[in-house]
This record gives sequence, C-alpha cells and structure tokens, in this order.
Amino acid sequence: MMSSKVSRRQFLSYSLMGVGGFMASAMLMPMVRFAVDPVLQPKGEGDFIATPQKVDELTEVPVRVDFTIKDRKDAWYKSDVSNTAWVYKEGDKVIALSPVCKHLGCTVNWEGDKHKNEFFCPCHAGRYEKNGKNVAGTPPLGPLDEYLVEIVDGFVYLGKTVPNTLV
Ligand code: FES
Repeated sequence: MMSSKVSRRQFLSYSLMGVGGFMASAMLMPMVRFAVDPVLQPKGEGDFIATPQKVDELTEVPVRVDFTIKDRKDAWYKSDVSNTAWVYKEGDKVIALSPVCKHLGCTVNWEGDKHKNEFFCPCHAGRYEKNGKNVAGTPPLGPLDEYLVEIVDGFVYLGKTVPNTLV
C-alpha cells in the first residue's frame, strides 16, 4: 500500500512552485494589462459637448464659439478645459472648424483687416479659406481640422476633431 504522506522534498518543491507562479503572475499581469489597456478603454466617440451657440443664430459668416469640457481627466488630475471653434452654416449644414493652425499650433482668427473671407494666423501669416483649406504659399501645410457636430434642442454640440472633409 502506498503512503499518502508528502515528503519534505515534495512539500518544498510544491511550495517553491506556488511562490514562483505567484511572483511570475505578479510580474506578467501589469505587462498584459499595459498591452491590452487601449483596447479596453471606452472610445468616447459619442461624447458631444454642449455649446451656448443657437443654430438659428448662425449665418454663413463664421463666429467664434467658446465651450468648456468639464472634468477632463489627465492621469489622476481632473480639470475643466476651455476650447474654441469657428462655426458657420453652409445651407442647412452646420460646420465647425478647429482654430488650431496646422503650422505650429497658434490660434487662427476669422478675417483680419487685410484678409477678407479667410482665416488668418497671426504667428507666421498663415492663411486658410473659409472651408479651412490652407492657402498655398503660406506656412500651413494642411487644412484646419473639423469638429463633429450634432444639433440638440436647437443648440450646437461639438464632438472630437477629425480631418477636414470639406476640401
Ligand atoms: S503657427 Fe500659424 S502660421 Fe505658423
């Protein structure tokens, strides 16, 4: 008849395997988590931010619309972030352009004294057409980004920025 006793050598061997397995999983779990974390994050594509801009007050002339993204998380830090868009109507369509210049990131303005019907970047004299297309021969090498737009109860809601679809 076989003895069911565990020898001292077996006990030590099982104990070391258990501790080794625990330590290996403690090291591997953060690596696996780091590798798959972006996949697990919510995309947030449905996040539209309310702005104070009424749709029926919009015209074909771009207006500056300031809005606030509440409680934006940056690691452990939460804060409200101010943002801006240039918004206008093209027929029934509401268009919102990012004011961030595609040269070095300054803020573009609609029309200066000498720049009728254009966005103008004061940093290095970058120019854009009304639809955000960069004017050839000026520093910006690409068009202004566009915000995703939703209309809710007559107000403009803005989503994330996407590459310009108008040019
Ligand atoms: S940052 Fe706008 S033209 Fe340079």
